[in-house]
Amino acid sequence: MASSLCLHLQTCSHLGCIAAAKAAAPSMVATANKSLCPFLKRPFLPNFCLPSGSSADLCERQPLRSPELVALEYADLNLSHKIFEEAGHVRVRQHVNPLSSSFSVPTPAPNWDEVFKDPKLPLMVDIGSGSGRFLLWLAKKHLDSRNFLGLEIRQKLVKRADIWVKELGFSNVHFMFANATISFKQIISSYPGPLMLVSILCPDPHFKKRHHKRRVLQKPLVESIVDSLMPGGQVFIQSDVLEVADDMRLWFDSEANVLKHIDKLDRSLLCDKDGWLLKNPMGIRTEREIHAESEGSNVYRRMYQKYT
Ligand SMILES: C[S@@+](CC[C@H](N)C(=O)[O-])C[C@H]1O[C@@H](n2cnc3c(N)ncnc32)[C@H](O)[C@@H]1O
Repeated sequence: MASSLCLHLQTCSHLGCIAAAKAAAPSMVATANKSLCPFLKRPFLPNFCLPSGSSADLCERQPLRSPELVALEYADLNLSHKIFEEAGHVRVRQHVNPLSSSFSVPTPAPNWDEVFKDPKLPLMVDIGSGSGRFLLWLAKKHLDSRNFLGLEIRQKLVKRADIWVKELGFSNVHFMFANATISFKQIISSYPGPLMLVSILCPDPHFKKRHHKRRVLQKPLVESIVDSLMPGGQVFIQSDVLEVADDMRLWFDSEANVLKHIDKLDRSLLCDKDGWLLKNPMGIRTEREIHAESEGSNVYRRMYQKYT
Protein backbone atom coordinates (compact mmCIF):
# COMPACT_ATOMS: atom_id res chain seq x y z
CA MET A 1 0.00 0.00 0.00
CA ALA A 2 2.67 2.47 1.05
CA SER A 3 4.69 2.04 -2.11
CA SER A 4 1.70 2.45 -4.41
CA LEU A 5 0.67 5.61 -2.58
CA CYS A 6 4.20 6.81 -2.90
CA LEU A 7 4.10 6.39 -6.66
CA HIS A 8 0.69 7.96 -6.87
CA LEU A 9 1.61 11.01 -4.82
CA GLN A 10 4.59 11.63 -7.07
CA THR A 11 2.24 12.38 -9.91
CA CYS A 12 -0.90 13.53 -8.18
CA SER A 13 -1.57 16.26 -5.63
CA HIS A 14 -5.35 15.91 -5.94
CA LEU A 15 -6.93 16.55 -2.55
CA GLY A 16 -8.91 13.34 -2.63
CA CYS A 17 -5.76 11.31 -3.21
CA ILE A 18 -3.96 13.09 -0.40
CA ALA A 19 -6.95 12.51 1.87
CA ALA A 20 -6.89 8.84 0.90
CA ALA A 21 -3.17 8.70 1.69
CA LYS A 22 -3.77 10.32 5.04
CA ALA A 23 -6.57 7.92 5.87
CA ALA A 24 -4.41 4.98 4.87
CA ALA A 25 -1.44 5.99 6.96
CA PRO A 26 -2.16 9.02 9.15
CA SER A 27 0.94 8.68 11.28
CA MET A 28 3.17 8.57 8.23
CA VAL A 29 1.60 11.67 6.77
CA ALA A 30 1.68 13.42 10.12
CA THR A 31 5.44 13.11 10.17
CA ALA A 32 5.86 14.12 6.54
CA ASN A 33 5.62 17.84 6.96
CA LYS A 34 8.08 17.78 9.82
CA SER A 35 10.74 16.12 7.68
CA LEU A 36 12.95 18.48 5.77
CA CYS A 37 15.14 17.11 3.04
CA PRO A 38 18.71 17.96 4.09
CA PHE A 39 19.72 18.42 0.44
CA LEU A 40 16.79 20.26 -1.10
CA LYS A 41 15.58 21.88 2.14
CA ARG A 42 12.12 20.76 1.15
CA PRO A 43 9.76 18.43 3.00
CA PHE A 44 9.31 14.91 1.75
CA LEU A 45 7.45 11.75 2.64
CA PRO A 46 10.17 9.33 3.65
CA ASN A 47 7.74 6.79 5.06
CA PHE A 48 5.81 6.51 1.83
CA CYS A 49 8.91 5.58 -0.12
CA LEU A 50 10.67 2.30 0.06
CA PRO A 51 14.28 3.34 0.51
CA SER A 52 16.24 2.20 -2.48
CA GLY A 53 18.93 4.83 -2.66
CA SER A 54 20.45 7.73 -0.81
CA SER A 55 18.43 10.35 1.08
CA ALA A 56 18.96 12.73 -1.80
CA ASP A 57 17.49 10.14 -4.14
CA LEU A 58 14.42 9.82 -1.88
CA CYS A 59 13.94 13.56 -1.85
CA GLU A 60 14.14 13.79 -5.61
CA ARG A 61 11.32 11.26 -5.78
CA GLN A 62 9.11 12.70 -3.06
CA PRO A 63 9.37 16.44 -2.53
CA LEU A 64 6.21 18.04 -1.22
CA ARG A 65 5.60 21.68 -1.92
CA SER A 66 3.66 23.89 0.44
CA PRO A 67 0.27 23.65 -1.38
CA GLU A 68 0.51 19.87 -0.99
CA LEU A 69 1.52 20.21 2.65
CA VAL A 70 -1.49 22.49 3.19
CA ALA A 71 -3.72 19.92 1.51
CA LEU A 72 -2.30 17.22 3.78
CA GLU A 73 -2.68 19.25 6.95
CA TYR A 74 -6.29 20.08 6.05
CA ALA A 75 -7.19 16.77 4.42
CA ASP A 76 -9.82 16.09 7.09
CA LEU A 77 -11.91 18.97 5.71
CA ASN A 78 -12.06 17.28 2.32
CA LEU A 79 -12.58 20.61 0.57
CA SER A 80 -13.75 20.59 -3.00
CA HIS A 81 -11.66 21.86 -5.88
CA LYS A 82 -14.57 22.38 -8.28
CA ILE A 83 -14.91 25.65 -6.46
CA PHE A 84 -12.74 27.43 -9.02
CA GLU A 85 -15.67 27.29 -11.41
CA GLU A 86 -17.80 29.24 -8.93
CA ALA A 87 -15.31 31.51 -7.19
CA GLY A 88 -12.94 32.12 -10.08
CA HIS A 89 -9.26 31.43 -9.81
CA VAL A 90 -7.93 32.68 -6.49
CA ARG A 91 -4.36 33.76 -7.01
CA VAL A 92 -2.96 35.98 -4.31
CA ARG A 93 0.22 37.79 -5.17
CA GLN A 94 0.44 41.49 -4.39
CA HIS A 95 -0.48 42.84 -0.98
CA VAL A 96 -3.51 45.09 -1.09
CA ASN A 97 -3.20 48.64 0.17
CA PRO A 98 -5.71 48.87 3.04
CA LEU A 99 -5.37 52.66 3.04
CA SER A 100 -6.82 53.02 -0.45
CA SER A 101 -10.27 54.59 -0.66
CA SER A 102 -11.91 51.30 -1.67
CA PHE A 103 -11.07 49.86 1.77
CA SER A 104 -11.77 52.94 3.86
CA VAL A 105 -15.49 52.41 4.48
CA PRO A 106 -16.09 50.41 7.67
CA THR A 107 -18.05 47.19 7.19
CA PRO A 108 -21.25 47.07 9.23
CA ALA A 109 -21.87 44.19 11.61
CA PRO A 110 -23.95 41.35 10.19
CA ASN A 111 -27.23 40.14 11.62
CA TRP A 112 -25.69 37.63 14.00
CA ASP A 113 -28.86 35.50 14.07
CA GLU A 114 -28.47 34.99 10.34
CA VAL A 115 -24.81 34.01 10.36
CA PHE A 116 -24.60 31.73 13.42
CA LYS A 117 -26.99 29.08 14.67
CA ASP A 118 -26.31 30.17 18.25
CA PRO A 119 -24.93 33.74 18.30
CA LYS A 120 -24.37 33.66 22.04
CA LEU A 121 -21.55 31.14 21.89
CA PRO A 122 -18.00 32.36 22.69
CA LEU A 123 -16.46 33.86 19.55
CA MET A 124 -13.00 33.55 18.01
CA VAL A 125 -12.02 36.18 15.43
CA ASP A 126 -9.19 35.60 12.95
CA ILE A 127 -7.93 38.87 11.49
CA GLY A 128 -6.61 38.38 7.95
CA SER A 129 -8.13 34.92 7.68
CA GLY A 130 -6.68 34.26 4.20
CA SER A 131 -8.17 31.14 2.61
CA GLY A 132 -10.19 30.41 5.77
CA ARG A 133 -9.06 26.80 6.07
CA PHE A 134 -7.59 27.45 9.54
CA LEU A 135 -10.94 28.66 10.92
CA LEU A 136 -12.89 25.94 9.11
CA TRP A 137 -10.72 23.34 10.80
CA LEU A 138 -11.27 24.90 14.22
CA ALA A 139 -14.99 25.30 13.54
CA LYS A 140 -15.23 21.59 12.78
CA LYS A 141 -13.52 20.84 16.07
CA HIS A 142 -15.90 23.00 18.13
CA LEU A 143 -19.15 22.64 16.22
CA ASP A 144 -21.52 23.16 19.15
CA SER A 145 -19.40 25.17 21.54
CA ARG A 146 -17.78 28.09 19.69
CA ASN A 147 -18.36 30.50 16.84
CA PHE A 148 -15.63 31.61 14.43
CA LEU A 149 -15.41 34.80 12.40
CA GLY A 150 -12.82 35.51 9.70
CA LEU A 151 -12.15 39.11 8.67
CA GLU A 152 -10.42 39.30 5.31
CA ILE A 153 -9.71 42.21 2.98
CA ARG A 154 -9.58 40.12 -0.20
CA GLN A 155 -13.09 39.57 -1.46
CA LYS A 156 -12.20 36.55 -3.60
CA LEU A 157 -10.85 34.67 -0.59
CA VAL A 158 -14.02 35.44 1.35
CA LYS A 159 -16.17 34.27 -1.54
CA ARG A 160 -14.34 30.96 -1.76
CA ALA A 161 -14.39 30.46 2.02
CA ASP A 162 -18.15 31.09 1.98
CA ILE A 163 -18.61 28.37 -0.60
CA TRP A 164 -16.66 25.98 1.58
CA VAL A 165 -18.78 26.90 4.62
CA LYS A 166 -21.94 26.06 2.66
CA GLU A 167 -20.45 22.83 1.34
CA LEU A 168 -19.44 21.70 4.82
CA GLY A 169 -22.77 22.80 6.27
CA PHE A 170 -21.18 24.46 9.31
CA SER A 171 -23.35 26.98 11.18
CA ASN A 172 -20.64 28.20 13.56
CA VAL A 173 -18.25 29.89 11.13
CA HIS A 174 -18.60 33.02 9.02
CA PHE A 175 -16.27 35.04 6.79
CA MET A 176 -16.60 38.76 6.13
CA PHE A 177 -15.00 41.03 3.59
CA ALA A 178 -13.65 43.78 5.84
CA ASN A 179 -10.68 45.98 6.50
CA ALA A 180 -10.17 44.74 10.06
CA THR A 181 -8.08 47.76 11.04
CA ILE A 182 -11.06 50.05 10.70
CA SER A 183 -14.03 47.65 11.05
CA PHE A 184 -13.17 45.34 13.94
CA LYS A 185 -14.70 47.48 16.69
CA GLN A 186 -17.95 48.19 14.86
CA ILE A 187 -18.40 44.54 13.93
CA ILE A 188 -17.53 43.01 17.29
CA SER A 189 -19.28 45.49 19.56
CA SER A 190 -22.71 44.14 18.55
CA TYR A 191 -21.83 40.43 18.98
CA PRO A 192 -24.21 39.05 21.62
CA GLY A 193 -21.77 36.54 23.17
CA PRO A 194 -18.30 36.81 24.72
CA LEU A 195 -15.15 37.37 22.63
CA MET A 196 -12.82 34.59 23.71
CA LEU A 197 -9.94 34.71 21.23
CA VAL A 198 -8.50 37.02 18.59
CA SER A 199 -5.74 35.84 16.27
CA ILE A 200 -3.53 37.79 13.90
CA LEU A 201 -1.44 35.22 12.10
CA CYS A 202 1.29 36.06 9.64
CA PRO A 203 -0.13 39.44 8.66
CA ASP A 204 1.14 41.10 5.48
CA PRO A 205 4.56 42.53 6.41
CA HIS A 206 4.58 45.78 4.35
CA PHE A 207 8.36 45.92 4.77
CA LYS A 208 9.12 49.49 3.71
CA LYS A 209 9.12 51.91 6.62
CA ARG A 210 6.81 54.30 4.80
CA HIS A 211 4.34 51.41 4.37
CA HIS A 212 4.25 50.40 8.04
CA LYS A 213 1.01 52.33 8.41
CA ARG A 214 -0.55 49.77 6.05
CA ARG A 215 0.07 46.99 8.58
CA VAL A 216 -3.17 45.59 9.95
CA LEU A 217 -2.26 46.07 13.62
CA GLN A 218 -2.45 49.73 14.63
CA LYS A 219 -3.03 51.30 18.04
CA PRO A 220 -6.85 51.69 17.73
CA LEU A 221 -7.19 48.03 16.74
CA VAL A 222 -5.01 46.92 19.67
CA GLU A 223 -7.19 48.95 22.04
CA SER A 224 -10.42 47.60 20.54
CA ILE A 225 -9.18 44.02 20.85
CA VAL A 226 -8.12 44.46 24.46
CA ASP A 227 -11.39 46.24 25.38
CA SER A 228 -13.61 43.71 23.61
CA LEU A 229 -12.02 40.54 25.00
CA MET A 230 -13.90 38.77 27.77
CA PRO A 231 -12.03 38.35 31.08
CA GLY A 232 -9.72 35.39 30.48
CA GLY A 233 -9.97 35.97 26.71
CA GLN A 234 -6.83 35.47 24.61
CA VAL A 235 -4.86 37.06 21.79
CA PHE A 236 -2.67 34.90 19.59
CA ILE A 237 -0.13 36.55 17.26
CA GLN A 238 2.50 35.07 15.02
CA SER A 239 4.70 35.89 12.07
CA ASP A 240 7.59 34.34 10.21
CA VAL A 241 9.01 37.87 9.84
CA LEU A 242 10.77 38.75 13.10
CA GLU A 243 10.36 42.48 12.56
CA VAL A 244 6.58 42.10 12.14
CA ALA A 245 6.33 39.75 15.13
CA ASP A 246 8.34 42.23 17.22
CA ASP A 247 6.05 45.05 16.12
CA MET A 248 2.89 43.14 17.17
CA ARG A 249 4.56 41.99 20.37
CA LEU A 250 5.40 45.55 21.37
CA TRP A 251 1.75 46.56 21.05
CA PHE A 252 0.46 43.76 23.26
CA ASP A 253 3.39 43.74 25.72
CA SER A 254 2.56 47.38 26.37
CA GLU A 255 -0.90 46.32 27.63
CA ALA A 256 0.71 44.58 30.61
CA ASN A 257 -1.84 46.09 32.97
CA VAL A 258 -4.59 44.03 31.28
CA LEU A 259 -2.77 41.20 29.51
CA LYS A 260 -0.40 38.54 30.74
CA HIS A 261 1.68 36.27 28.52
CA ILE A 262 0.32 32.71 28.55
CA ASP A 263 3.52 31.04 29.81
CA LYS A 264 3.03 32.88 33.11
CA LEU A 265 -0.38 31.22 33.49
CA ASP A 266 0.13 27.82 31.87
CA ARG A 267 3.50 26.26 32.66
CA SER A 268 3.04 23.67 29.90
CA LEU A 269 3.37 26.40 27.24
CA LEU A 270 7.08 27.01 26.97
CA CYS A 271 8.96 29.92 25.41
CA ASP A 272 12.46 30.20 24.05
CA LYS A 273 15.00 32.52 25.70
CA ASP A 274 13.56 35.51 23.82
CA GLY A 275 10.00 34.87 24.97
CA TRP A 276 8.60 33.32 21.77
CA LEU A 277 6.34 30.30 22.18
CA LEU A 278 8.04 27.09 21.15
CA LYS A 279 4.85 25.63 19.65
CA ASN A 280 1.66 26.77 18.00
CA PRO A 281 -0.97 26.16 20.72
CA MET A 282 -3.95 25.97 18.30
CA GLY A 283 -3.54 22.36 17.18
CA ILE A 284 -3.24 23.30 13.48
CA ARG A 285 -0.91 25.51 11.49
CA THR A 286 -2.02 28.28 9.15
CA GLU A 287 -1.18 28.16 5.48
CA ARG A 288 1.47 30.84 5.70
CA GLU A 289 2.96 29.07 8.70
CA ILE A 290 3.14 25.77 6.80
CA HIS A 291 4.77 27.53 3.88
CA ALA A 292 7.31 29.35 6.09
CA GLU A 293 8.24 26.21 8.02
CA SER A 294 8.54 24.19 4.83
CA GLU A 295 11.14 26.72 3.69
CA GLY A 296 13.00 26.25 6.96
CA SER A 297 11.95 29.63 8.43
CA ASN A 298 11.23 30.23 12.09
CA VAL A 299 7.77 31.32 13.22
CA TYR A 300 7.58 33.78 16.14
CA ARG A 301 4.52 33.41 18.35
CA ARG A 302 3.02 35.03 21.43
CA MET A 303 -0.24 34.36 23.22
CA TYR A 304 -1.72 36.72 25.79
CA GLN A 305 -4.56 36.31 28.24
CA LYS A 306 -6.71 39.07 29.67
CA TYR A 307 -6.84 39.26 33.46
CA THR A 308 -9.99 37.77 34.94
C1 LIG B 1 0.07 36.62 4.63
S1 LIG B 1 -1.65 36.35 4.66
C2 LIG B 1 -1.84 35.24 6.04
C3 LIG B 1 -3.14 34.50 5.99
C4 LIG B 1 -3.35 33.55 7.18
N1 LIG B 1 -3.56 34.27 8.40
C5 LIG B 1 -2.19 32.61 7.30
O1 LIG B 1 -1.44 32.71 8.28
O2 LIG B 1 -2.04 31.77 6.41
C6 LIG B 1 -2.31 37.87 5.35
C7 LIG B 1 -3.80 38.02 5.09
O3 LIG B 1 -4.27 39.19 5.73
C8 LIG B 1 -5.17 39.85 4.84
N2 LIG B 1 -5.22 41.27 5.23
C9 LIG B 1 -4.25 42.20 5.06
N3 LIG B 1 -4.64 43.40 5.55
C10 LIG B 1 -5.88 43.21 6.07
C11 LIG B 1 -6.82 44.06 6.72
N4 LIG B 1 -6.55 45.35 6.93
N5 LIG B 1 -8.01 43.53 7.11
C12 LIG B 1 -8.29 42.22 6.87
N6 LIG B 1 -7.45 41.37 6.25
C13 LIG B 1 -6.25 41.85 5.87
C14 LIG B 1 -4.57 39.60 3.48
O4 LIG B 1 -5.46 39.78 2.42
C15 LIG B 1 -4.11 38.16 3.62
O5 LIG B 1 -5.11 37.24 3.25
